[in-house]
Amino acid sequence: MAQTNELAPPRHIAIIMDGNGRWAKQRGLPRTAGHSAGAEAFRRIANYCRTLGVEYLTVYAFSTENWKRSQEEVGGIMLLLRRYLEEAISDMEKNKVRFRFFGDLTRLSPQLQKLCADAQNRSKDYDVQVNFCLNYGGRDEIVRAARAFAADVQAGKCQVSDLTEELFGDYLYSRDVPDPELIIRPSGEMRTSNFLLWQSAYSEYVFMDVLWPDFGPEDLDKAIEEYHRRNRRFGGV
Ligand code: FPP
Repeated sequence: MAQTNELAPPRHIAIIMDGNGRWAKQRGLPRTAGHSAGAEAFRRIANYCRTLGVEYLTVYAFSTENWKRSQEEVGGIMLLLRRYLEEAISDMEKNKVRFRFFGDLTRLSPQLQKLCADAQNRSKDYDVQVNFCLNYGGRDEIVRAARAFAADVQAGKCQVSDLTEELFGDYLYSRDVPDPELIIRPSGEMRTSNFLLWQSAYSEYVFMDVLWPDFGPEDLDKAIEEYHRRNRRFGGV
């Protein structure tokens, strides 16, 4: 495993777990096999992030657009999530990971919604946090936040002039979570694909050629090194 530099890792890393389908195709396997290998890659990287001292890991597990895929593929991803959460809940006291879910969970099966609620409630006092973006879209998140703020104005809880960037952030799924300093997209695609649109205003993007199921600790080390090489000035000098 490559040695990470001595600099502190980013506090919050976000990842678009892309390339599962191509990984499976290269091997003549069904797409669900790619997602299964992708879930393993997630386990590896989540553990490694903990070793490095990363405080928040946010992953794009299922987008608002992913419902357009075949029933078999959607069902396969949901099954992987269910299995992962069942395992995480039973290992909760050992792993001490806090779970949050960004997205509209109401479209998920009642069983999966219950697992998400259990995982979130039972882990709320732990520190290291994994945020699963599930039925998530960045624009959808912003529209929902705008509606919720408007509803609070209508209800007389606040005024239009109260709205600041900070207050708006409180209406997002990511409330109380610092913005990611680093966003990684493997698989060679160079798009943001509706991921964390608000939160990524100052994030460093690192695009990598490796497919997500092949992504390992040495790839995360490389992305962190690239992040440290860049001069982060937030628009200043
Ligand atoms: C994108 O690759 C990946 C997804 C849409 C699903 C990601 C889901 C997982 C990694 C499994 C979730 C479960 C856990 C436990 C984290 P793609 O299918 O778009 O790949 P392609 O671009 O090569 O077709």
